[in-house]
Amino acid sequence: MQSRSHTSQKLRTVPNSEVLISEHKYPGQRGGLTSDVYCTFGAERLKDYEMTFGRWRLKRLLKYLVAGMILIFCVYTIQMIVFVVKDLQCSEEESKQLIDKLCQEYKRKEVAGSLCSSLCDSSNILYHKCTNYKRGKRVLFAECTNSCINGSTIMTVLKSKNEKQDILSLPKNKKGDISEDGQRMARTIFLDTVYNSMHYQIPAGANVFSFLWSLDFNDFIHSSTWTYPIDVAFKSIWSLIQQDEYLFMKLYQKELHYIPRLYGTCGPFYFMEFAPPGKILNPTIFHPSRSSWKDRAKIALGILEIAQSLETHFHEPVHFCDIKEENFGIAEDKSVKILDTDSLFFDEIMMKILQDQKCTSHEDCDFFDCRGWCNKSGGKCNICEDIFINRAGNFYNGLLHDPPKDIAKDLNNLLEQCAYPNNNKGTIVRMPAAAEVHWKLYEILQKSIILLVIITGRDNKEI
Ligand SMILES: Nc1ncnc2c1ncn2[C@@H]1O[C@H](COP(=O)(O)OP(=O)(O)O)[C@@H](O)[C@H]1O
Ligand SMILES: [Mg+2]
Repeated sequence: MQSRSHTSQKLRTVPNSEVLISEHKYPGQRGGLTSDVYCTFGAERLKDYEMTFGRWRLKRLLKYLVAGMILIFCVYTIQMIVFVVKDLQCSEEESKQLIDKLCQEYKRKEVAGSLCSSLCDSSNILYHKCTNYKRGKRVLFAECTNSCINGSTIMTVLKSKNEKQDILSLPKNKKGDISEDGQRMARTIFLDTVYNSMHYQIPAGANVFSFLWSLDFNDFIHSSTWTYPIDVAFKSIWSLIQQDEYLFMKLYQKELHYIPRLYGTCGPFYFMEFAPPGKILNPTIFHPSRSSWKDRAKIALGILEIAQSLETHFHEPVHFCDIKEENFGIAEDKSVKILDTDSLFFDEIMMKILQDQKCTSHEDCDFFDCRGWCNKSGGKCNICEDIFINRAGNFYNGLLHDPPKDIAKDLNNLLEQCAYPNNNKGTIVRMPAAAEVHWKLYEILQKSIILLVIITGRDNKEI
């Protein structure tokens, strides 16, 4: 009885679990209880113990829950900061002022181009939003009705790199426009610029000015009511061809399917096809990617094809020195496009810049994302390391995460060989991967897509 009362007395103290556990041990150790009393006591205590243990588990669960919530909060905050910083890179007001300024210049007849009238006279092109003003490049999104593609309303991207440009000073005639001599000089200067920047020769017989612009030069100077049409045309063309991105897109517009389409120009601005990186290439916590393996594999194939073409299509390799997901985009027809073509460098031009730098270490030969060797030829930009694999810089596990089980081992082996050709994980990669590895990678991705098409019985084209 004594024990029972002892028990009930103890039971009254249940709320404190620590006290209970120590008390539970204590009577047993002392051995001062009869067995049945002990059993009764033990059963009651077991119940208490279970409750306590349950509470302890609940506490642990709560701890994990709180830790998880803190982690989610931190990731969310970091993403918010990234978003705000990105937002700070441009302002709506400034962008509208930029367009106003361009249109005022057009109205003062200082600039011209095929889309000036749509932007400034009619409201066929309407400003939508800005992206960034990094390194002086303006990138604005706009809605374009009928002027970019006849009969359609589409999104377009207005771009212009606002760097210090050389001033074109040419001899003038009595009327104040560019003289015949001045036109010949302009022709030579433009041809040289195109050759020096891209090693490209404009076909003989082509009108150089029309070739590089969005308007037919002769039509423009004959039909225009402008006071100095030649001067205006030359200034507009000159401001465009000093921008490598425009020049590359203009010259290879028809030849390369992965260059976004150019719709037209106005002064130093050019209007290009809208091909955003989208959720798959640039997922965020607000726009997470729930893409399938097939969608990601198709994009990876597109990127590999671009890399291959840059390596072999031109008279010399072209290096893409700003490799990141957001510099590739997906067009309306789901094809992969290269967006930031002013980060493309012809091998000879890049080597010349590096040689002029007189290196003392390999680091001196790093050229944006391309990592070179001091006093050795080469230099590489690594798509596998920068986009495909899972590493710190590649947000969300890299593009080729979670492959199908049947190819996972082979694919991961290939990706390792491609990203770290010398088994040099953890160091800065300067060795280019063997061409063979790229081909094997291409093959394995292609096969996995074909297999999925066979299994699902259809080619699901959505990306
Ligand atoms: N044609 C385009 N279609 C859709 N988005 C684009 C296009 N061009 C650029 N962008 C977006 O704008 C961003 C900045 O443009 P980009 O040319 O890469 O400028 P920067 O040289 O400052 O990186 C790109 O990362 C991309 O997300
Ligand atoms: Mg970019």
